[in-house]
Amino acid sequence: MARGKFITLEGIDGAGKTTHLAWLRERLEHKVGPTGHAVVMTREPGGTPLGEALRNILLHESMDLETEALLMFAARREHLAQVIEPALARGDWVLSDRFTDATFAYQGGGRGLPRDKLEALERWVQGGFQPDLTVLFDVPPETASARRGAAREPDRFESESDAFFTRTRAEYLRRAEEAPYRFAIVDSTQSIEEIRRQLDEIVTAL
Ligand SMILES: Nc1ncnc2c1ncn2[C@@H]1O[C@H](COP(=O)(O)OP(=O)(O)OP(=O)(O)O)[C@@H](O)[C@H]1O
Ligand SMILES: [Mg+2]
Repeated sequence: MARGKFITLEGIDGAGKTTHLAWLRERLEHKVGPTGHAVVMTREPGGTPLGEALRNILLHESMDLETEALLMFAARREHLAQVIEPALARGDWVLSDRFTDATFAYQGGGRGLPRDKLEALERWVQGGFQPDLTVLFDVPPETASARRGAAREPDRFESESDAFFTRTRAEYLRRAEEAPYRFAIVDSTQSIEEIRRQLDEIVTAL
């Protein structure tokens, strides 16, 4: 039986990932459903009971930067073992709101953790495993912060400065340059309709 495909959505806070998640799942179900397989929608940090508990701590408790990176990868290990790997093995597709590129972008680019440490954790937790497709919603930090607005109390990442998100965005773009075969960069300043037209092309190609 063919393995399913693993798709991740990335971008800085307010870029538009969650806006397109349910729509994208529906588009994928249209394509995957007739083969008898499901589309599993999930997120990071989180995706499992343990991962969601870690998410709550990561988003609200202050901690040492290396602790933060280790907890991200601990949650990811559990996510891979309990959810992602079993789903792909049974032929289902998996759609995740964030994955490892976010750890490089936030803990590496944003907070300045040396990249070699993140690369070591990535190898340890994933081996050579990578998403089949990563959609990077790319926007300038000012656009993203205007979109985030003041709707609710910001978490530890959402409350960061435009300078932080400038570094985060740059690291996302560097990761995309390093692995162009799996990245699709979408200009997320465009209208939601135009972005969905492009997403449709991207997943049809996959
Ligand atoms: N293309 C767009 N044009 C205008 N507004 C948009 C667009 N995409 C998203 N938005 C709006 O921007 C806000 C943030 O979008 P969304 O929550 O999807 O971002 P996100 O990438 O999931 O952020 P986070 O990482 O914080 O979860 C929402 O209010 C959404 O309606
Ligand atoms: Mg979101």
